[in-house]
Amino acid sequence: MQKVIDIKENVTKFEELSAYIERQDESQGVLMQTLHKAQELFGYLPIEVQKFVSEKTKIPMAEVYGVATFYTQFSLEPKGKYTVGVCMGTACYVKSSQLVLDQLIKTLKISVGETTEDGLFTLEATRCLGCCGLAPVIMIGDSVYGKLEPKKIPEIIESYRKK
Ligand code: FES
Repeated sequence: MQKVIDIKENVTKFEELSAYIERQDESQGVLMQTLHKAQELFGYLPIEVQKFVSEKTKIPMAEVYGVATFYTQFSLEPKGKYTVGVCMGTACYVKSSQLVLDQLIKTLKISVGETTEDGLFTLEATRCLGCCGLAPVIMIGDSVYGKLEPKKIPEIIESYRKK
């Protein structure tokens, strides 16, 4: 279920988004640009923000929701402090990245696309991270972990919990 945001606490962000929309001309890319701006302001695209964008841009809600859910760069849920990206590109896949992912799912107790209850980790499966020589690879925030054995995962995650 989607989390609800407090509109009163976010008035400044809605005002900024409104000003941004008013500055846009009615070009084709207006919805994508507006959703990018909204995600930058709120960190994700809760339903209230999608409704606001729909009302302000006069673009039907179904279209706004469709775009927000279609593109992976948009998130409908708040992200954790650390995004854990598991590379599922070919080189990593043949080096058993699925086992790394399975271990992360077990350690974090969440599925791909979810965020831990403490708000620390969001788990994602990604395309090639560009360091195939280190396969299998994961990224946590800006840090890359290569040649990973699944048994190392709990220790790595614990080091972030302690930060
Ligand atoms: S396939 Fe994983 S880094 Fe390239």
